[in-house]
Amino acid sequence: MDRNLALEFVRVTEAAALESARWMGRGDEKAADAAAVDAMRKAFDVLRMDGTVVIGEGERDEAPMLYIGEKVGTKTDDAPALDIALDPLEGTTICATGGPGSISVIAVAEKGKFLHAPDTYMDKIACGPGAKGKIDIDKSPTENVQAVAKALGKEVSDMTVVILNRPRHKELIDEVRKTGARIQLIGDGDVSAAVSAAWPDSGIDLLIGIGGAPEGVISAAAMQCLGGDFQGRLKWRNEEEKARASKMGLKDLDKKFTCDELASGSVMFVATGITDGSLLKGVRFLPDGKAKSHSIVMRSATGTIRTIESFHDFTWKKNKKS
Ligand code: FBP
Repeated sequence: MDRNLALEFVRVTEAAALESARWMGRGDEKAADAAAVDAMRKAFDVLRMDGTVVIGEGERDEAPMLYIGEKVGTKTDDAPALDIALDPLEGTTICATGGPGSISVIAVAEKGKFLHAPDTYMDKIACGPGAKGKIDIDKSPTENVQAVAKALGKEVSDMTVVILNRPRHKELIDEVRKTGARIQLIGDGDVSAAVSAAWPDSGIDLLIGIGGAPEGVISAAAMQCLGGDFQGRLKWRNEEEKARASKMGLKDLDKKFTCDELASGSVMFVATGITDGSLLKGVRFLPDGKAKSHSIVMRSATGTIRTIESFHDFTWKKNKKS
């Protein structure tokens, strides 16, 4: 995959972040999401690729833009065929309430290398490179916490486990507390949380819990770039979800997916902060029609991680014309 594309993709997440950040704290989730989707869709148009959205805003009949199967990019003959997993605004509620850690995110792989995950829940576990190969979603939270602590050479009491704060996680939280590990409960945004588990010095050692399956695929892509580990198993709420997944081609509905089965080959992961988080700073609007954004760009082919601070001048083109 053309390595320069990674730096092109950051324009796409920047565009979505800049537009949705204008809706921060305004209590309108729909408007924030629409602004991100619209800006991301437009920014894709100039990228030299024949892209197919495989993880997107939903099925074609429910999402007007960036739906699953939509073609994006210039689609010219010389353009590489790529699959895209995206979330223009990951953490819609966070953005609408001005909370911490909403991001705009894209993962890119060669054709056929992402699991085409249905829009259901996924049981997830993620850790950094130091504990790669030591997590197992079939084992209890206690066993996983202890295994990761041992691999990292830490006391269990010095571990931090990140968990989405949801009633469905009550037993999980109780069990992790009993191990003696510390917990960071988050309101939303388990892609950022998974990345944090593998990010040097983030203070997070492990992510456990149930979140969105599409977010699981995007998180697995990030883990491939960071050398971390991820496992997931789809969680079904009803028979209709199962039927939809079977129609999408999923054979074993109870399968444990490894990181490689969710995202493989040469993968890129790009994210821009919308609101301030532990991983990325949010968009800052500056005087005189300017703004600053903060992004990460990572490639699994080399393990290079770039953090990019960009200054945007919305008046520049207008002034040039006059
Ligand atoms: P949205 O950006 O779609 O609002 O998702 C936020 C999120 O917190 C994800 O990070 C997570 O995977 C999922 O929602 C959890 O779902 P739920 O809010 O239903 O528990």
